[in-house]
Amino acid sequence: MRVLVTGGAGFIGSHVAEAYARQGHRVIVLDNLSRARLLHASPRTADFTWNVLAKTANVTCVRGDVRDTAVVDDLVRDADAVVHTAGQTAVTTSLTDPVTDFETNVVGTFRVLEAARATGRPIPIVFTSTNKVYGENVNGLGVREDGDRYVFGTGHEAGVPETLSVDHSKHTPYGASKLAADLYVQEYGRLYGLPTAVFRMSCICGPRQFGVEDQGWVAHFVICALLGRPITIYGDGKQVRDVLFVDDLVEAMQAFIARPAVAGLVCNVGGGPRFTLSLLELLDFLQRETGRRPPVTFADWRASDQRVYVSDVRRAAETLGWQPRTSPTSAVQTMVAWVAEHRDLFEEAVP
Ligand SMILES: NC(=O)c1ccc[n+]([C@@H]2O[C@H](COP(=O)([O-])OP(=O)(O)OC[C@H]3O[C@@H](n4cnc5c(N)ncnc54)[C@H](O)[C@@H]3O)[C@@H](O)[C@H]2O)c1
Repeated sequence: MRVLVTGGAGFIGSHVAEAYARQGHRVIVLDNLSRARLLHASPRTADFTWNVLAKTANVTCVRGDVRDTAVVDDLVRDADAVVHTAGQTAVTTSLTDPVTDFETNVVGTFRVLEAARATGRPIPIVFTSTNKVYGENVNGLGVREDGDRYVFGTGHEAGVPETLSVDHSKHTPYGASKLAADLYVQEYGRLYGLPTAVFRMSCICGPRQFGVEDQGWVAHFVICALLGRPITIYGDGKQVRDVLFVDDLVEAMQAFIARPAVAGLVCNVGGGPRFTLSLLELLDFLQRETGRRPPVTFADWRASDQRVYVSDVRRAAETLGWQPRTSPTSAVQTMVAWVAEHRDLFEEAVP
């Protein structure tokens, strides 16, 4: 196959690209390397992944923008499958720069869909949506405190189902732009026979995740713990997320692309109820694992933060024949080892 991975120089996209390339498929990575600028991170981080991919057999890197019709048309025309991960990824950036957020997430996704429609071929497309499409509606699921974490109330132990309303839920521009794109992906599946899948993902983690305060909290905590940098926790730290190791996510994506039986699939994809962590629990775990605890200060809750988000993964499991396999403990241990090995990447001052 020829697999197009938009945002392929990012964290998730690069793992998708590597997995397909390893299996002998041709992979085209499209990325404009904007993450570092959007998230005020070190440009070295983007270059790092780009350079890894440039040296990977079967991978071709194209520096370009997913909003650029000509580029996207050209690449989708020859593709047998598309994994669309290019995006503006941070809630905070979406609040200060809603135009870039809209154009990247909505227009960029629309370009990919239109290019696929124009081919007249049923190209499988996986779209990386988010738990943020449910916004604050999640906080209505009987959330209560339980020691160092929030938990859902009785009847919601399996996590957030795809049937939870996405209306009136204080999305933030990021949640709104991802939801708009999510709906377009569904409609292009339904109307134009494209085998599309919307993966509403919660917290994905793994090596090469250049987490910063605004996005990628597990990686951000690991990096701060190892480099002795301070952490600000917005809220009380009892927020809980289910955690999915990136290799498990890639397996789910590949399962859909290999057998894209359902056009317009929408599923929540995460670690599910078995694999969850609160911020405070991660700090405790990192202290045990590394002997270090970064200095922590607490600040006000952020806009539309979810007290707890756990994916109900039953639809994904049934449709894709898939299960999350990697525990948060094992995922974080892998990340600690990776950051320790690459700590020079994080040591330079951020512009
Ligand atoms: N990481 C998570 O936990 C998580 C959770 C839910 C959803 N998502 C979604 O998954 C996708 C990938 O996330 P990630 O963690 O790998 O983020 P990432 O920032 O590491 O990767 C995104 C990539 O997209 C690229 N990009 C941004 N705008 C672009 C444009 N206009 N044209 C071409 N490339 C562009 C960036 O340079 C970056 O390399 C995003 O769409 C994000 O919203 C991620």
